[in-house]
Amino acid sequence: MDRTGSRDSPPRRSAQETTGVDMLRQSVRRNEPISHTMPNHTDALLNAVDSALRTLFVPPRGTRECPTLPEQASDPALAPEESQLSGALMRVNHVGEVCAQALYTSQALAARWTGRNGARPNEALALQLEAAGREETDHLAWTQARLDELGARPSLLNPLWYAGAFGLGLLAGRVGPGVSLGFVVETERQVEAHLASHMDRLPAKDQASRAIVAQMKDDEARHAREAQQAGAVELPIPVKGLMRLAAKIMTTVAHRI
Ligand SMILES: [Fe+2]
Ligand SMILES: [Fe+2]
Repeated sequence: MDRTGSRDSPPRRSAQETTGVDMLRQSVRRNEPISHTMPNHTDALLNAVDSALRTLFVPPRGTRECPTLPEQASDPALAPEESQLSGALMRVNHVGEVCAQALYTSQALAARWTGRNGARPNEALALQLEAAGREETDHLAWTQARLDELGARPSLLNPLWYAGAFGLGLLAGRVGPGVSLGFVVETERQVEAHLASHMDRLPAKDQASRAIVAQMKDDEARHAREAQQAGAVELPIPVKGLMRLAAKIMTTVAHRI
């Protein structure tokens, strides 16, 4: 059999391949988006597992340069207590980015999932969520690098934070696209406000951490705007309050553990 599968020697297809090809043909005949008919649940689930393992166990690699100037990296002028405070604050920010990975991954997974109520996979929403998630990977890499420079460790509870955020994201995503985007808007706004408070609390001399937090704050604000423009609905006030409470618990614990 040649590699092109010519008429002289047609390649044998498995039942699974035949089904996939048939579905593709049907979708083209009906002029439907392919994502509406392709059986992509397993792929989406495997991607989610892969993302969780990479977030928790593999050193993150950003696509953008860390906004820390090389000559500021070691911050020799920081006093021990300043370095300790910066380490605690950057650990909290690192946990926030671990949660961001979980949220965007689970919401993208939910967007691709076919609901029992007949909801169709929403590939456009999944792609938007994944694009924002890639920028969060930069944040994860920058905060991890800064923790290393400060001699601080990430939170010991990161698997727990990841699991909790993943569950919340999946829940929001399953409600529907408008709520899922509304959840993104509210989360990003709360993170932006939290980062603004860190600009006040970080030692004035810690320019390296401040540069990272400032860039993250700008990015989070943009993520919120983009989700708003994509059709987010306003979440009920009690839900926003519960999200604030959950964030408060997370930031308080992560400051120490
Ligand atoms: Fe972020
Ligand atoms: Fe963000």
